[in-house]
Amino acid sequence: MPLKDCGIIELPKVTDPRGNLTFVEGGNHIPFDIRRVYYLYDVPGGADRGEHAHKALHQFVICMSGSFDLLLDDGFDKKQFHLNRSYYGVYVCPMMWRYLDNFSSGAVCMVLASEPYSEADYIRDRGEFLRAVGAA
Ligand code: TYD
Repeated sequence: MPLKDCGIIELPKVTDPRGNLTFVEGGNHIPFDIRRVYYLYDVPGGADRGEHAHKALHQFVICMSGSFDLLLDDGFDKKQFHLNRSYYGVYVCPMMWRYLDNFSSGAVCMVLASEPYSEADYIRDRGEFLRAVGAA
């Protein structure tokens, strides 16, 4: 899928003097059913995550606290997002190289995913990814 199909999706925000509330419904606010949730936290300063692509997995990345940068790359073009609010996220379609860095202290990155964990769905070699998308 092309890079233009990935990007920011704003989520519903129920503002309330007692505290705001945001929710996500798979297949409604995001274009896939949610079968897994995982999160990154206690990320040390200067660390980076990601640096791989998924063959078939759809994901939605939300910054629950703090901030970090997400770079998406389809082998031809790149898009960078600075995430620092929990009422929107970035939809990441399959076959997209992703790189996360610039985590603030206390940052929490939550990812909603369309499938359970499967190492067979990963492409961790950059050269293999570029060949698979026809960019090398
Ligand atoms: P990985 O996806 O490579 O981390 P990141 O891209 O954020 O740097 O996952 C790191 C390790 O955690 C890897 O050995 C597999 C394991 N893991 C699971 O067991 N289940 C999961 O749902 C995820 C996302 C990772």
